[in-house]
Amino acid sequence: MLLSDGAEGSGGSVDDLGPTGVDPALEAEFDTVAAWTEAAVAELGDDHAIPAACRGSGSPADLGWLAEGLELRRGDRFLDAGSGLGGPTAWLLREYADRWDGPVVLAEPMPHAAAASHRLFGRPAVAAWSEHLPLRDDAVDAGWCLGVLDTTHDKRGLLSELHRVLRPGGRLGLLVLVQRRELSEPFPSNDFPSDVSLHRDLAETGFRVLDRRDSASLPGPPPEWTRRADAVGEVIARDHGDHPEHREARHQHEVLGRLMEAGEVVSVLLRVRAS
Ligand SMILES: C[S@@+](CC[C@H](N)C(=O)[O-])C[C@H]1O[C@@H](n2cnc3c(N)ncnc32)[C@H](O)[C@@H]1O
Repeated sequence: MLLSDGAEGSGGSVDDLGPTGVDPALEAEFDTVAAWTEAAVAELGDDHAIPAACRGSGSPADLGWLAEGLELRRGDRFLDAGSGLGGPTAWLLREYADRWDGPVVLAEPMPHAAAASHRLFGRPAVAAWSEHLPLRDDAVDAGWCLGVLDTTHDKRGLLSELHRVLRPGGRLGLLVLVQRRELSEPFPSNDFPSDVSLHRDLAETGFRVLDRRDSASLPGPPPEWTRRADAVGEVIARDHGDHPEHREARHQHEVLGRLMEAGEVVSVLLRVRAS
């Protein structure tokens, strides 16, 4: 597994960074919780892995809509940028098993999350920020980047890098949390784009938007999916509920939930093509 130093490209100011060089809120939410999630899945069973490891893309319907736009053909090389625990790509490999099975690469800056995704699903994972991917030009035919763009200030840097590694004409699926109204509570760990700035950034970095929709227009997750994801959350709360990083991650989750409930932030899906 390839590891990168991590601090580069995080987008936060140096003052915001902890001793490891990573934003502590990001590390709590995405790295520490990832390690706990892996342990909870080991206790509850493999059938809990995919729902628990989809951390920015709750609904299989969202994944399905994005996957259709990828037009995957056998042998297509695929990148999951900001892959977290790797649940979405594991879902894609399972659902498309009769017509496509990679090769895939998962790129995730939080080292525990990247390592855990490899152990959970057995696919190659690199610890890397998507602004600096350890891949050559035109390395992949398709990819997705789910719940990531709104966590970085350097959106054009990230999109330019995705454009560099995608072959011309390659398809990309995006799930982006977009700000539609003024926020009633601060959420400093994220930098939500507006619809306008998102489209401008995509156009400026060489992407053409083929289709888009709000996630809210698609069905939510089936009850069994939610039950398994919740069961993993309960095991984590049982074992780590008093841990400061658990409290931090729960706080982040609750505030984001309220912002989304109020319609101030919405989840937007985009099918785009690299020029
Ligand atoms: C909401 S989670 C989504 C994870 C995964 N894509 C999914 O849908 O399950 C956001 C992920 O983006 C990662 N991330 C944050 N900033 C990033 C960046 N600049 N480049 C790549 N990944 C980043 C975080 O570590 C985290 O794993």
